[in-house]
Amino acid sequence: MSDSAKAATANPLAGMSLEQVHQAILTCPDCRLCRSRTRAVPGEGPAQAEMVFIGEGPGWHEDQQGRPFVGPAGHFLEELLASVGLRREQVFITNLVKCRPPGNRDPLPDEAAACQKYLDRQLEVIRPRLVVALGRHALAHFFPKVSISKTHGTALERDGLSYFAMYHPAAALHQGSLRQQIMSDMQNLPLALQGLGEKTQSPAEPETRQMNLF
Ligand code: URA
Repeated sequence: MSDSAKAATANPLAGMSLEQVHQAILTCPDCRLCRSRTRAVPGEGPAQAEMVFIGEGPGWHEDQQGRPFVGPAGHFLEELLASVGLRREQVFITNLVKCRPPGNRDPLPDEAAACQKYLDRQLEVIRPRLVVALGRHALAHFFPKVSISKTHGTALERDGLSYFAMYHPAAALHQGSLRQQIMSDMQNLPLALQGLGEKTQSPAEPETRQMNLF
């Protein structure tokens, strides 16, 4: 089988639009989290977003509303975005796992594995210029050996995609001393985006327009 044929068959969601992926997430039965969730949280933002922000998993507020980062951590994320002239509607925001782990525990490996196809397809369709990994779990998903304490506020590369490592916004709520660090790391984001290639148009979302955020 050719490489492109393999790539096309590797993800069971290959060929789906963002909307179709989100509909599939809403009724996903693929792991135990479907039994305790109130609502699945696919993520939100424009398909043509230049940046995708990825957290760990929905918390209580997100589970209630079906939207990512709408609780206290989300308010801080909005503040961080505003500090570099962005509104949340301009970026795509999602999580590694789309359903809330009970009690906000870490997602288990089999839950993360069952959910990976959704994030993979979201990234395939959106083709962001920059993926912002929020917290050590999101960073470890892409860079298992890289420590957030050494890379926060910096850009990383893998397989032709660019990433930006950040402490999770909730860390500032639990550990006040991190707040200034996270704010200061955020100021590096426009620099990380500068100099990256233009966003490529996805065949899956042919109406894609390029956005110039900075
Ligand atoms: N924390 C996350 O990782 N994701 C959310 O959506 C909210 C809080």
